[in-house]
Amino acid sequence: MRVDPRPIGIFDSGVGGLTVLREVKRRLPRESTVYLGDTARVPYGPRSAATVTKYAINNARTLLALADIKALVVACNTASAHALPALTEALPIPVVGVIEPGARAALAASTHGTIVVLGTSGTVRSGAYPRAIGPSRRVEARACPLFVPLVEEGWTTGDVPRLIAEQYLRDLPTDTSVIVLGCTHYPLLAPVLRAAVPAPIDGAAATAVELEALLRARDIQAPADSARRHRLLVTDAPEQLARVAPAFLGEAVDPASVELVDVLMTA
Ligand code: DGL
Repeated sequence: MRVDPRPIGIFDSGVGGLTVLREVKRRLPRESTVYLGDTARVPYGPRSAATVTKYAINNARTLLALADIKALVVACNTASAHALPALTEALPIPVVGVIEPGARAALAASTHGTIVVLGTSGTVRSGAYPRAIGPSRRVEARACPLFVPLVEEGWTTGDVPRLIAEQYLRDLPTDTSVIVLGCTHYPLLAPVLRAAVPAPIDGAAATAVELEALLRARDIQAPADSARRHRLLVTDAPEQLARVAPAFLGEAVDPASVELVDVLMTA
């Protein structure tokens, strides 16, 4: 059996992908990780497919150049929706997105009725969730763009997020069986969302399961005795990520440890 101590690269437009990083660390405790939050260019949700694809490739190349990653997790639904084929083609390493695992989690959680997907406008426009879920189920995708800045600010409880959530979740189909949080920022709003809808689910845990299977299939798991390292990189405002990251990761983050990097602009 081969082993590979190189880290796993994970990126998102900002802090949302930390919800996926947490699951990766929980599921794969031997692995090292390098997380890149593209905080200089957040949000991705309203941008075109071409722009998000360019940003995604910039981020992936930056992680390869700075950290020699062995696999990439696209911890962003918008980037997964628009850029997964381009990333898979452009990169010499395996790539895992969050939409297929999220769709599988949705199908596993319900056998009938409408699946409601909450996501960015880009994810909704792409039609990626209905495609991934398939024709057996009715899917209603709703864009909730104001959730992302709330989460980037760490403003996840209280009247403001609650009222916005109530507005977005109005008039759900009467046969709604499951609500999918189709944006990696949204799980941080789960307590507020739970007040409006029953048990929202997300694809973070299923993504970590898929990553584990991929590392095993390619024989590139970290050795049991490897020294683990977890790096956090951002393209702007490291102190802001350090401020909100503990809520996502469930652990303290030393602000001095968050690295400010420039993305490689080559697409
Ligand atoms: N967290 C991202 C997602 O899962 C994107 C949020 C944004 O930048 O608009 O779609």
